[in-house]
Amino acid sequence: MLKLALIVGSTRPNRFADIPAKWIVEGAKQRDDFALDVLDLRDHTLPLFNEPAPVGYTGGKYSEPAAEAWRHLIGQYDGFISTVAEYNHAPTAVLKNAFDSASFEWNRKPIGFVGYGGVGGARAIEHLRGIAVELQMAPIKQEVNIAMAEYLGVVQQGKRLDDYGHLVASRTAVFDNLVWWGRALKAARGIEVKAA
Ligand SMILES: Cc1cc2nc3c(=O)[nH]c(=O)nc-3n(C[C@H](O)[C@H](O)[C@H](O)COP(=O)(O)O)c2cc1C
Repeated sequence: MLKLALIVGSTRPNRFADIPAKWIVEGAKQRDDFALDVLDLRDHTLPLFNEPAPVGYTGGKYSEPAAEAWRHLIGQYDGFISTVAEYNHAPTAVLKNAFDSASFEWNRKPIGFVGYGGVGGARAIEHLRGIAVELQMAPIKQEVNIAMAEYLGVVQQGKRLDDYGHLVASRTAVFDNLVWWGRALKAARGIEVKAA
């Protein structure tokens, strides 16, 4: 069974993130091809990255105990989904910091994104795709974009994300492709390779 983690990528009071996070968990409960844990960055308080040496020179070790705990936790998973808030056309600082607070543990694992905002978090997701590639991850093409109409529908009109068929379909596509890449990369990680 694949072990995936949902990273809740914003932490401010009254965050919208709780709505997509709950909806992702509900969707995951209908699946028997992966297990999903929630890693809420509110619960995993990480200091702002301040390491004296790049982790490439330390064998991936961090001097901060919280980052050490985080990277060991990340190392337990076969793939990830992240909620993506867009702050000034970019990912949240807390989410970028969470990526910086582990290194090799991200390698050769897939990640999918569930964004929201004016254009469904698309601009922030594009940043995250580049970050993920640098971490030797496989960012999957399929994504969920909760755009302005659906965002306001939920926040102001009492709608649920399940009321929007295209969002449910894109959630399924993200799950399906995370499983495909997760299985492929899990198998490949079992093969000794010398590539850096
Ligand atoms: C600092 C800040 C910057 C924002 N910048 C953008 C933006 O560039 N694009 C966008 O679509 N929404 C932007 N928003 C609106 C967010 O999409 C909206 O507040 C969303 O709920 C934020 O996610 P959160 O509630 O999980 O924190 C911004 C919000 C904040 C707080």
